Amino acid sequence: SRCLQAVWCGRHPAGGPSPLWKVTIMPDTTTANGKRRPLVMGNWKMNGRLARNEALLTELKAGLASGFDAIDVAVCPPAPYLGQASKLVAGSAITYGAQNLSTEQDGAYTGEVSSGMLTDLGVKWVLVGHSERRSLYGETDETVAKKTQVALEAGLIPVVCIGETLEERKTGDTEVVLARQLDAVLPVLGSQPASAFVLAYEPVWAIGTGLTATPEQAQEVHRFLRDRLASSGYAQAQEARILYGGSVKAANAGELFAQPDVDGGLVGGASLVANEFIGIAKGAVASLGA
Ligand code: PGA
Repeated sequence: SRCLQAVWCGRHPAGGPSPLWKVTIMPDTTTANGKRRPLVMGNWKMNGRLARNEALLTELKAGLASGFDAIDVAVCPPAPYLGQASKLVAGSAITYGAQNLSTEQDGAYTGEVSSGMLTDLGVKWVLVGHSERRSLYGETDETVAKKTQVALEAGLIPVVCIGETLEERKTGDTEVVLARQLDAVLPVLGSQPASAFVLAYEPVWAIGTGLTATPEQAQEVHRFLRDRLASSGYAQAQEARILYGGSVKAANAGELFAQPDVDGGLVGGASLVANEFIGIAKGAVASLGA
């Protein structure tokens, strides 16, 4: 069912009497036949230039123009190009997200980008806690929870990324690590409808390495995460979307998305190649017929 979310935006700046609420219609996460609606999201990381972005988005717009109504497709360009993306995807079903956001609102935070700036640019999604943010920029579970909260308060849909390293998988700690990362955001997500957030399982050893989790490995983890959502008392665990990320490409998307608990993909390298990304989106459409 569709869900209205009201976000408190403070009092009228002119001191007017009426409080400001922003009302957002949250998307359905389920399709007509009761399956979760797949989401295919491109994470461009720190790649792109004006001319290249325009060529890529123009190709994506053409290639995704029909036959993709049953899925959600999004791109996450670097922050300086969000305005460009908003213009180029206008009139298409492609939505766009940011790769990061600040825990803070406006103010003396040099180099940061706030949730208000993202909503100002019509941004819909925001990646939170990508493993590169965690490993290269010191984001902790606590930061990730705070950013998730800030995104939700702004009406952005956080795509919360979690995943184990190769070392952790080898020592048999995969579930311990994922449980810790998930539990850190559960207090924030627990009160939200499933349409308000997305989880992304991205094994660190599969990101940018060409090594993909097997469909069975992905399914095992996705099932574990959904079960943990449910056992934490979260009532909409069956509706929550859990994406797989890590070397997803057109050639492996179909078998990954065919897994019962894999609801689409977060795609890095292959999202920079129009035909690859369109092929991945086709895999998501095909998974609905599986
Ligand atoms: P990759 O990256 O598809 O290049 O492995 C995925 C991600 O980091 O989101």
